[in-house]
Amino acid sequence: MKSLLFVPADNERKLAKAVSCGADALAFDLEDSVLPERKPLARKLLVEYLKTYSCTSEVWIRVNDLASGETLADLAAVIASKPVGIVLPKILGPECLQKVSHYLDMAETAAGLPLGSTAIFAVCTETPSAVLRMGELLNKPFPRLRGMLWGGEDLSAALGAGDPRAPDGRWRPVYEHARTQCLLACHALGVEALDTVYVDFKNPDGCRANSLAARYDGFTGKIAIHPDQVPIINAAFSPSDDELAFARRVIAAFESGAGAVSLDGKMLDIPHLKAARRLLAAAAAH
Ligand code: COA
Ligand code: MG
Repeated sequence: MKSLLFVPADNERKLAKAVSCGADALAFDLEDSVLPERKPLARKLLVEYLKTYSCTSEVWIRVNDLASGETLADLAAVIASKPVGIVLPKILGPECLQKVSHYLDMAETAAGLPLGSTAIFAVCTETPSAVLRMGELLNKPFPRLRGMLWGGEDLSAALGAGDPRAPDGRWRPVYEHARTQCLLACHALGVEALDTVYVDFKNPDGCRANSLAARYDGFTGKIAIHPDQVPIINAAFSPSDDELAFARRVIAAFESGAGAVSLDGKMLDIPHLKAARRLLAAAAAH
């Protein structure tokens, strides 16, 4: 998926608007955009809303983290609505994925759904433990894991730190580290890697530059928090005509059968060929 738009589940106007935003996926939020006293209402509104949902955007639901004491109530309420998956925030390490996988087994059984039908997107940088222990995720396959995403704000709160961004907008080193860990772990696991939110939602140029940089770095998609960000992200994560044309030229250049060739005065070898093929395959999949 290129774009995953977060939608606070207790807000009827935003629920209504979500289906017209063109996002590849929607993450209906039961966690941090919903005040504690409104969580029961949010679950109820969401379940009602999903009864008549008909839109091509995949349905994901961000549940509350395991330490909140709300996760079971979330899963018990929403799994029968058959979301494509849940977004699991604030993981500490693989044991959180393991525990939630078991919870999902139970919720799916109760709802008469096939075991394993609900996928997981894990938010893998919101606790210091998760960042330090990211590599442990590679020790055991998690068939439900479709991808991971990262965020800096909760990590900053956990560190008792200030704004995670420097005045020039760049991530401070610890968040850059967390972002890189997330990206590497996703690719090592072979799952999707989503870049974090661009909070300045009234700045389309900033969002575009930020999204293009994320794709360039290897992220496969990005979170949106406002409908206006969705088309920008979708475009940024779709290869441009120029990129596609260049990829075709790279492939053509290797037709001679050599492993190293020259194109426009530059050397190309097998990694370039692989990158060109990957770009064309991704464009075809989109
Ligand atoms: N999903 C669906 N619709 C949204 C939306 C979202 N995330 N954000 C805004 N909209 C809708 C608004 O309801 C409004 O439509 P309406 O006039 O029919 O009500 C329209 O888009 C324009 O919204 P705007 O007035 O520009 O923004 P806002 O002030 O209502 O909301 C935010 C701004 C940031 C509070 C809002 O975008 C939001 O709630 N984002 C998601 C926050 C979130 O989920 N955070 C947790 C994950 S990081
Ligand atoms: Mg959060």
